[in-house]
Amino acid sequence: MDVKDDVVWHSTRVTQTERDQLCLQEPMTIWLTGLSGAGKSTLAFALEKIFVESGRSAFVLDGDNLRHGLCKDLGFSTEDRSENIRRIAEVARLMNEAGVMVMVACISPCSEQREQARSILGEERFLEVYLSTPLSVCESLDPKGLYRKARAGLIPDFTGVSAPYEVPVAPALILDASEKTVAECLGEILSKVAVK
Ligand code: ADX
Repeated sequence: MDVKDDVVWHSTRVTQTERDQLCLQEPMTIWLTGLSGAGKSTLAFALEKIFVESGRSAFVLDGDNLRHGLCKDLGFSTEDRSENIRRIAEVARLMNEAGVMVMVACISPCSEQREQARSILGEERFLEVYLSTPLSVCESLDPKGLYRKARAGLIPDFTGVSAPYEVPVAPALILDASEKTVAECLGEILSKVAVK
């Protein structure tokens, strides 16, 4: 949908440098993608805690959580997931502009959706982290019991079972949470983040 001709953009008088100086950081979005149960939310909320404890403002945009509010009208068709990811990326961009470090934890199963997020956020603010935890591990742990329901046919279009997950081609980082500790994963992610 195009912006209407009679909707006018108002420019801010605050520069990004001014905001970043206040915020002790160059805000970016750490985009965690992977199957349900791969460890995205665990790492996202752990990163948030680390940033906030070091005096930086940070916030998690978690797929499950956003589907209780901003995205509660969306389901799991490819179209709805694309809209879900577009909204999340737009919110992340605004939060980054406001000086907040953002961790996105959403499956974002299609390359096209993640590329759209990258273009909304801009290359320098988008850190794509692929949680490559194998389906067999996610399914055996199944903390929410969703794989069991999906296999029983109770949840349609379930990623990894009855809907596809396209593995990222060139992510900034690949982490298998079944092979590494949470601390190791956090260390690898933080080594990629420019913190003043
Ligand atoms: S995404 O595909 O649009 O990026 P998102 O991360 O927001 O998905 O939501 C995924 C979460 O919704 C999963 O962690 C799971 O708890 C829940 N869920 C419910 N139904 C499905 C489904 N059909 N496929 C995947 N996840 C589902």
